[in-house]
Amino acid sequence: KQTIFSGIQPTGIMTLGNYLGAIKNWVELQNTYNCAYCIVNMHAITVKQDPKALKQHTLEAYALMLACGVDPEKSVAFIQSHVTTHAELNWVLACSTQFGELSRMTQFKDKSKRYPDNINAGLFTYPVLMVADILLYQSNLVPVGIDQKQHLELTRDVAIRFNNTYGNTFTIPEPYIPKQGAKIMSLADPTKKMSKSDDNVNGFISILDKPETIVKKFKRAVTDSDMEVAYREGKDGINNLMTILSTVTGDSFETIERDFAGKGYGDFKTAVGEAVAEHLRPVRENFDRLMADKSYLESCYKRGAEQAEKISRRTMEKVYKKIGFLPR
Ligand code: TYM
Repeated sequence: KQTIFSGIQPTGIMTLGNYLGAIKNWVELQNTYNCAYCIVNMHAITVKQDPKALKQHTLEAYALMLACGVDPEKSVAFIQSHVTTHAELNWVLACSTQFGELSRMTQFKDKSKRYPDNINAGLFTYPVLMVADILLYQSNLVPVGIDQKQHLELTRDVAIRFNNTYGNTFTIPEPYIPKQGAKIMSLADPTKKMSKSDDNVNGFISILDKPETIVKKFKRAVTDSDMEVAYREGKDGINNLMTILSTVTGDSFETIERDFAGKGYGDFKTAVGEAVAEHLRPVRENFDRLMADKSYLESCYKRGAEQAEKISRRTMEKVYKKIGFLPR
């Protein structure tokens, strides 16, 4: 069986973009692969976090991951800071990643523009920790949205270089980017990626939004001035809504075009909103149930950490040996 690894930051309730671009695929891949899924709280502190909020968001993100269908009986589901190998491999790999490589990372450039008063070293070396996350589990595939593609390319470069220098150590991973849903756009500005840090709450759907809120946000979604529900260049808003509907229902674009031929945008937007609200209903219910049983959640992330520790420690020992660290 091949191995899958992926992670999500606990920086707020996840969006429909996170769900359709990543988590939905995590769930589907569980049956065919050995999977490890991680709440990356160490990545989250590269931007300022309120400690109380971070703690709460970490627990919520973990619960949400399970609520979406990640099954802790099938997959290793854990919290990054519980497994110290991540920090250990991060250091080793930081010493074989070049300043120039990290300077080219677009996420760093974007974030340092967004938070000009906190361009810390961790923000700069963020991708190295991500490389460590992935390589520790000898991952073959990494299910992510498009925005993580550059980090996956860096992961491959670092792994190949390390293997060439020290001998075969790491599996070279590949990104797993879905054909549909890899880049869900903002409902308020369909030329921008949907993001939970958007100042305009109408731009994103949180997967815990109430059904009425979801429908309302879709009704307000920015589209265009013609009247045709069709997937075509230049129709960013409609293309995004069609993508969302198709990913949620499994209907093809042709079917959607046929179903809404001659109908107005109002009907179409309401239909997309209702389909999404219906799709997320069980997620919200599962989430409420899980958050009411903290001791169950605790037992899950404890076990996940033990499993992750065991797998990743094997890689770590191999790495220390290869680079010439004297064993204790
Ligand atoms: P994060 O927390 O920003 O996002 C989690 C996942 O959601 C995807 N995503 C989207 N997909 C489609 N449309 C969108 N609008 C959208 N917004 C976000 C992201 O591509 C991602 O797959 N650096 C990572 C976390 C990470 C990681 C890892 C991922 C840390 N270590 C190791 C994979 C493997 C991040 O910030 O994701």
